[in-house]
Amino acid sequence: MKIGILTSGGDCPGLNAVIRGAVLNGTEHHGIEFVGIRDGWKGLVEGDFFPLTRHQVKGLSKVGGTILGTSRTNPYDGERGGPENIAKTLYGHHIDGVIAIGGEGTLAAAQRLANDGINVLGVPKTIDNDLRATDYSFGFDTAVNIATEAMDRLRTTGDSHQRCMVAEVMGRHVGWIALHSGMAAGAHIICIPEVPLSLEDICDKVNSAAERGRAPLVVVAEGFKLIGQDEAYSDKGLDAFNRPRLGGISEVLAPEIERVTGIETRSTVLGHIQRGGAPSGFDRVLATRLGLHAVDAIVDGEWGQMVAMQGTAIVRVPFSDALGELNTVPMERYEGAATLFG
Ligand code: F6P
Repeated sequence: MKIGILTSGGDCPGLNAVIRGAVLNGTEHHGIEFVGIRDGWKGLVEGDFFPLTRHQVKGLSKVGGTILGTSRTNPYDGERGGPENIAKTLYGHHIDGVIAIGGEGTLAAAQRLANDGINVLGVPKTIDNDLRATDYSFGFDTAVNIATEAMDRLRTTGDSHQRCMVAEVMGRHVGWIALHSGMAAGAHIICIPEVPLSLEDICDKVNSAAERGRAPLVVVAEGFKLIGQDEAYSDKGLDAFNRPRLGGISEVLAPEIERVTGIETRSTVLGHIQRGGAPSGFDRVLATRLGLHAVDAIVDGEWGQMVAMQGTAIVRVPFSDALGELNTVPMERYEGAATLFG
């Protein structure tokens, strides 16, 4: 059997660990041959493949990014796109099926291709942790660790100057990274997309922390909306899927907090630093287990599904379980964190 592997959408710490887990399991235990597909669906459509041997995945679990490259191409677009062309391309290279590692957009495309007769097995990835059907996605833990460490640093400089520090994290329309990093760093208020707040709500917590002699730390998710705001803040245009590129809300909030509270306030947008570099130990293990299990599913002939983490187990679920609704932060989780605010 010959399997292609691709990574599609935004990169994420742990992608290489999935690739390594799949290739080691497949080559060593099942006699499977692998090819790497360059730059996501683009490489599949263009037939841009290269041999992926055990030697090439050596030491990869700790390496950030993706050795395969990635893009946000839609496999249905272009002259060579679509299931019939893709089937011909795969047949021409004697490839039996594809492991597609990606987020919501990638898994939606994988589901559509699977429904159109292509052998596809999905592996979910996202730092945002916004996919249903998997309790955690790899990349999230690393992003939380990076953001927490950054906030610890912001706090020492905030303490030195008695300033309010506003830290903005990624996450698109869910607040998982903000909730976890904010709790870990002891934020005085955490602003997430699921819970709109007023400027007064935020400033009350800032004032209460300052009154106790603390330098206030405000954590804000990029998708957060103030009460009355219809859309998340975006001033960077659209991405390849025509979605607004988020980021920058902290730069709007910081001067407003300073105006209302009179406390000198600075903002920091952590941005892509949260996605870069080596995956955490947790993410290396999760990603490796998903890679191993993806190959086991293929050996069992279970194409057209994705692997996921439920509890501590790796399971196989239909693509539809992960798509549609987002995995948002439940209210009780936010309320738990909120008991520590101020
Ligand atoms: O989905 C992961 C993510 O990092 C989001 O948190 C963020 O909004 C987006 O991707 C940024 O995308 P890009 O890398 O295209 O700027």
